[in-house]
Amino acid sequence: MKIKKLKQIIKKVFKEHGLSQNHANLCGDALINAELVGAPSHGLSRLKMYCDRIKHKIINPKPKIKIKKISQSISHIDANNSMGFVSASIGINVAIKNAKKTGIGLVAVKNSGHYGLSGYYVEQAVKKNLIAMLFTNAPPAIAPHGALKTLFGTNPICFGAPTDSKIPFILDTSVSMINRGKIRVAARDGKKIPEGVALDKYGKPTTNPQEALEGVQLPIAGFRGSGLAWMVDILSGVITGGNHAGRVKDPFTDFTGPQNIGHLFFVLKPNLFVGNSFHKRIKDNIKTVKKLPKIKGVKEILYPGQNKYNRYKNNIKNEIPISKNILEDLKQLNAFK
Ligand SMILES: NC(=O)c1ccc[n+]([C@@H]2O[C@H](COP(=O)([O-])OP(=O)(O)OC[C@H]3O[C@@H](n4cnc5c(N)ncnc54)[C@H](O)[C@@H]3O)[C@@H](O)[C@H]2O)c1
Repeated sequence: MKIKKLKQIIKKVFKEHGLSQNHANLCGDALINAELVGAPSHGLSRLKMYCDRIKHKIINPKPKIKIKKISQSISHIDANNSMGFVSASIGINVAIKNAKKTGIGLVAVKNSGHYGLSGYYVEQAVKKNLIAMLFTNAPPAIAPHGALKTLFGTNPICFGAPTDSKIPFILDTSVSMINRGKIRVAARDGKKIPEGVALDKYGKPTTNPQEALEGVQLPIAGFRGSGLAWMVDILSGVITGGNHAGRVKDPFTDFTGPQNIGHLFFVLKPNLFVGNSFHKRIKDNIKTVKKLPKIKGVKEILYPGQNKYNRYKNNIKNEIPISKNILEDLKQLNAFK
């Protein structure tokens, strides 16, 4: 389907679920962006889930979001169970504003929901020539090292920096072997997941996505990955006032209340210590890495964010493919009326 038409449809669906035009625009743009950067697990496949949560009154379509200024650099946002896209958009904008004023912007958000891709927000700061880090927690998917039960989410870590070229450096990664959205999409499409990413509920390796969802996702790098997941839970849950320690509800299966996810936005000026030589230094840094001898079969050493940029550049010229399942969701949401 044509991108413009699909955007209109999605925004209309959100509006019909009670969102203001401005909030519907923020949510629609974020979902379409996920499709365009090649992350359909965080795009249209989640639209119905968000709408179902609004219908169950556990996402607030008309939130009264409070922004408390703690200092010139630091703000605390109570998102009032808004759509995660809405609070994340406000969060990054406040962090950018604070950073521009003082050099550093630190913003904590509580009572929020799932906001999709961290890189989407970090990129907004990087485009304004700022460095940004973003942390969010997510529902239980990974077992703490040594535990028999999932507790940490796939808790993504995102870091972005300007590169003095049109492609920003954006490392945006879950701390699980693959993100949970990919497992959900595989389960819905009746496909297998790769080996080595999950165990079933009895602790046996599995390539069956449903068994993986009921079992345990494996963290990156063993106990180190589980440690990173824990760190993100502290940064985005414990210190923000959001849920933590496994209390973030699964947005697809648990409709007993709001998720109360926490996010932490950290934005800084890149020239704080080295002045304008930052631009020369980052270029030198990337050039040095890219010039290294390559492993057989590797054409180019990429920096994080390059592959996403290339996918976006290709996808923006084309239509967005709509799977049978997504079409069914759209029909159920009366999207074509
Ligand atoms: N909101 C949530 O609760 C939540 C939870 C988990 C993940 N996510 C999002 O899902 C998205 C996907 O996460 P993921 O873990 O599947 O990411 P991924 O595995 O696709 O990519 C991880 C990182 O590796 C980089 N990369 C990939 N190939 C590379 C290469 N050949 N050379 C150099 N760098 C390379 C990418 O640019 C990216 O920065 C992210 O945007 C993340 O924020 C969100």
